[in-house]
Amino acid sequence: MRYDADLNFVYAHTPKVAFGVNVVADLGTYAGEMGLSKAVVITDSFLAEKTDLLDRVKQTLGPLLAGVFTGVIPDPTAASMDAGAVYAGEQGADSLISLGGGSAIDTAKGIAVVLKEGGKILDHEGYHALEGPQTPHIAIPTTAGTGSEMTMVTVIKDPERKQKTFIGSFHLHPNLAILDPTLLTGLPPKLTAATGMDAMSHAVECQISSLGQPVSDAYGIEAIRIITNYLPRCLEKPDDLLARGRMQIAANMAGTAFSNAMCSLNHAMAHTLGARHGVHHGTANAILLPHTMRYFMDVSAVEFARVAVAMGIDTSGMSAEEAGNKAADQMEQFVEAIGLTDRLGDYGVTEDALAGLADVAMTDGTIIYSPKPVFEPQDIVEILRKVL
Ligand SMILES: NC(=O)c1ccc[n+]([C@@H]2O[C@H](COP(=O)([O-])OP(=O)(O)OC[C@H]3O[C@@H](n4cnc5c(N)ncnc54)[C@H](O)[C@@H]3O)[C@@H](O)[C@H]2O)c1
Ligand SMILES: [Fe+2]
Repeated sequence: MRYDADLNFVYAHTPKVAFGVNVVADLGTYAGEMGLSKAVVITDSFLAEKTDLLDRVKQTLGPLLAGVFTGVIPDPTAASMDAGAVYAGEQGADSLISLGGGSAIDTAKGIAVVLKEGGKILDHEGYHALEGPQTPHIAIPTTAGTGSEMTMVTVIKDPERKQKTFIGSFHLHPNLAILDPTLLTGLPPKLTAATGMDAMSHAVECQISSLGQPVSDAYGIEAIRIITNYLPRCLEKPDDLLARGRMQIAANMAGTAFSNAMCSLNHAMAHTLGARHGVHHGTANAILLPHTMRYFMDVSAVEFARVAVAMGIDTSGMSAEEAGNKAADQMEQFVEAIGLTDRLGDYGVTEDALAGLADVAMTDGTIIYSPKPVFEPQDIVEILRKVL
């Protein structure tokens, strides 16, 4: 294995996960047990106004609820996190409950930092700079994708630099994650597919990352197996609670894996496309993933052969490279079959923009964990051109 010569690592994640149908109704009990008394919910206006999810959270929190911030935006900006921190501070929040996709969870992580440390969110940019526990945070994901409920990272869009930046710290893990499949039955097909492929990308990228180790490998491989089997079922039958639940668990495992092993080139490109052209994070990851796999085939064929097996491919008699290539081909077919046929041109990306996008992707915080160094922006241009 790629880590046989050097196997030192620290493994960390959110300490407690409650999973089950209607388990969100236990939120108030959990919050009480944690000694929280002024919880502010962090969500977006769509979930607050057009679904019953916020009402369900309010009901279980009862008198522990101190306010609701509905200013979460997709790909949250530094300004949106700062605004949330001002609101939560005004309510005297002693804790945060994020309700939504990765954007809500990441916003709550950012607010937790500003409430505790003061200043503005970008004052705290970077890795491992936070010195102690942050504002308590219970994460309730409503997409099965980012795994942010398990990770030590918040992803922040900085419109000035037109780039995504990060805060990473073991103090950013939420204190509790609540996974309730009933929260996902209203997730539209396109978002179901795209967020599911974000999880798939985490799981696959962990297999090849330079920080990978046996624990992240195991979580990632199982996540790939589950996503292959259950993501199509979620699309066929959106209210299939078994399939929705399996996808939540897969996203959770893949998030746990990548928070420790890190992602690499595929995410560097997806972050850049999200920051510059508003391409949804999971969609960008999905359409790029087969091409990234082929790009790394010369150094990661053994790992991609394991991915092939997890995807249900019969690899008997194949060389690692044949099996790895088969995995990339099947991944491409899978992405198309679940309806992710977007091209970058659909988002206004032109050939002229590719070199600039490649330059920004080269500076993304994840690219250094690639299984071989990516030295040439032209390599990235060529991958991006394949999905133009
Ligand atoms: N911190 C991390 O570890 C991490 C990891 C991966 C991605 N991310 C970040 O997460 C963000 C993407 O998160 P996402 O893909 O979950 O999407 P999202 O949170 O941006 O949500 C997308 C849309 O889905 C809607 N939505 C969410 N749940 C719904 C439901 N149950 N029913 C109907 N609509 C629903 C939201 O209202 C929103 O409009 C990006 O900013 C990305 O950078 C963070
Ligand atoms: Fe991601």
